[in-house]
Amino acid sequence: MRIVKSVAAMQRLAKRWQNQKVRVGFVPTMGYLHAGHLSLVREARRVVGPRGVVVVSIYVNPTQFGPKEDLSRYPRDFARDKMLCRKEGADVIFAPEDREMYPPNHGGAFSTYVVEEALSRGMEGASRPTHFRGVTTVVAKLFNIVLPEVAVFGAKDFQQAAVIRRMVRDLNFPVKIVVAATHREPDGLAMSSRNKYLSPVEREQATVLSQALRMAKQSVKRKGVSAVKLKAQIKQFIGSRPAARLDYIELFDPQTLQPVTKAGRGTRMALAVYLGKTRLIDNAVL
Ligand code: PAF
Repeated sequence: MRIVKSVAAMQRLAKRWQNQKVRVGFVPTMGYLHAGHLSLVREARRVVGPRGVVVVSIYVNPTQFGPKEDLSRYPRDFARDKMLCRKEGADVIFAPEDREMYPPNHGGAFSTYVVEEALSRGMEGASRPTHFRGVTTVVAKLFNIVLPEVAVFGAKDFQQAAVIRRMVRDLNFPVKIVVAATHREPDGLAMSSRNKYLSPVEREQATVLSQALRMAKQSVKRKGVSAVKLKAQIKQFIGSRPAARLDYIELFDPQTLQPVTKAGRGTRMALAVYLGKTRLIDNAVL
């Protein structure tokens, strides 16, 4: 497994693969890998096959964090990530520094961004106004550097995957987007690098997200229900956990991401909940 740190070296490698018609599968991550990330690596390998190559990027992208968010304390453990990628059979880790991705004052500071203007407005976009601009910008840059045929994202970030799919379509990136199922702990908590922040009490109460999703699934089992009523029921449930504070809950059409007034089978529900200072997200189809 190779570790590539510079954009120029990664692009050279990617162009060589392109000339040799080697299939490239790509898993963009911010590191501190867990079993969910590793399942994305396996999915990338499954798609490109044994003769293809799998690239994992490890880069904590500063432009997708708001000024009061957790950029400086975001968990990092490159040695462990390296070991896990090697074990999982990745071929290359692309791990650039900030000065590679956002070069300072190279004839002017970085000033070009990619903005998706429809799907990125609600939910995460409403709570974190500059988040998706950072995500689409860095993913566009990574696609231009790694030149993948296929890129694999996790379904836990459902809105992110929808925004990236739209960006790929609108800007004609020749990249196939695959979305792999959310990996969960045995008690239902969706795997996330941020779970590391949770105190024991917060960790115990963090199951409130997956339980809320289960509760919503039960409610729509037989017939559609009013979104207002269902949201009120879930809010009350989340309020019953002292360590939990609801940021948002949304019931929406999975194609348009538009809120629905009546939730039924096929409606998607997403929520963000603070456990102490840690903000966790989850979603599921009802
Ligand atoms: O989902 C993530 O980990 C990040 O948003 C991504 C896609 C790697 C971009 O920094």
